[in-house]
Amino acid sequence: MEKEIAVKIHTKAVHAGDRKKAGAHIPVTTPIYAATSFFYESMEQLDRVFGQQEKGYSYARYENPTTAALEELMTVLEGGHGSLACASGMAALQMAVVTALADRRKSVIAANAMYGATVSLLLNVLEPTGVETRFVDVCDLDALRAAVAEAKPGCILIESISNPLLRVGALDKIAEIARAAGAALVVDNTFASPLLVRPLELGAHFSVHSLTKYLSGHGDVLGGVVVTDAAHFDSLRNLSRAIGPVLGPFESYLTMRGIKTFPLRMERQCANACRVASWLATHPRVERVYFPATADHPDAATIRRLFPPNLYGAMVSFELKDAGREEIFRFMDALEVVVRATSLGDVHTMMLYPVMSSHREVSPKHRERMGIRDNLVRLSVGIEAPEDIIEDLDQALAR
Ligand SMILES: Cc1ncc(COP(=O)(O)O)c(C=O)c1O
Repeated sequence: MEKEIAVKIHTKAVHAGDRKKAGAHIPVTTPIYAATSFFYESMEQLDRVFGQQEKGYSYARYENPTTAALEELMTVLEGGHGSLACASGMAALQMAVVTALADRRKSVIAANAMYGATVSLLLNVLEPTGVETRFVDVCDLDALRAAVAEAKPGCILIESISNPLLRVGALDKIAEIARAAGAALVVDNTFASPLLVRPLELGAHFSVHSLTKYLSGHGDVLGGVVVTDAAHFDSLRNLSRAIGPVLGPFESYLTMRGIKTFPLRMERQCANACRVASWLATHPRVERVYFPATADHPDAATIRRLFPPNLYGAMVSFELKDAGREEIFRFMDALEVVVRATSLGDVHTMMLYPVMSSHREVSPKHRERMGIRDNLVRLSVGIEAPEDIIEDLDQALAR
């Protein structure tokens, strides 16, 4: 999209990043540029590109045209200044946090409910390098303010919808707290996606995604992205040039292909999730349903304020009555349509057992503090006919 037209996310998803002139013709989708090196008519020009005085490509660790197209698309979808596509969501999270802390105090305040590998990144990877982390209930703004005043963090790290208990912090207010304290706010926006919320528009400094999930959406890409503002973009890219955590051109192409239908898929998944969550809430074997649309959700007011109407995400977590590992395994083994696998956001409905997979690396004590019990399962609702998802859950719950 050369012209600046105010278009909706469905249109951006289909057009942004693509349609770049390649000689005399304009391909409708960005080609896969597999080349690792690029050269020019003259050494003078290559020298300028290497020196970053002229825009261009020299070496794939620095930039690749296919990946650059995906980065442009993500920048448009998230309303940022620039993006860095990475080889995984975890690589993207690490890049965001390390960039955020480059000129700030090496201290992080993180949400007390997060993806297990993120907790592990903070405690097992960053802490030994001198980055201290404190976990706080970021949905309690007074608790957050008190922790910020005490810890004076360089970075606040949260998820827009938390994994797996689906809490939603007041992003805009958390951004105000971060900015007043001189901290950078990093938001993992994987669960909500840019269809529900765009953290940079609410004051965050970094929005991070596991591209592996809703954005690529078909269970065939591992990737991540950091979208950031003008103030942090150069240092993010310079760190990437040094380390090279970048996404390859084949994955970038597949991700762009996936993103073209992402808003459509996400709308359908959100609608399906509402139906599945309502049905689960009436099932006698279900003790408790966690879903952002429920009237008694602890963050209902924030959700109403920040999310578009009728879009609550497509994740549903629930606890089974009197169940432990054995009962959960029996229930999950009986599923026929729902795929028993780690990950989320794909076109197919998937279920995982957090204790066994997403939060396996978190100690049992820490898991208990997070509220993750042994009878909890997490469902990522896909695009199938909702009646079929419900029928499958019903027959598996009867075992
Ligand atoms: C919320 C969240 N953030 C980040 C990640 C990490 O993404 P990846 O597996 O692409 O590294 C995941 C993976 O499940 C996730 O659920």
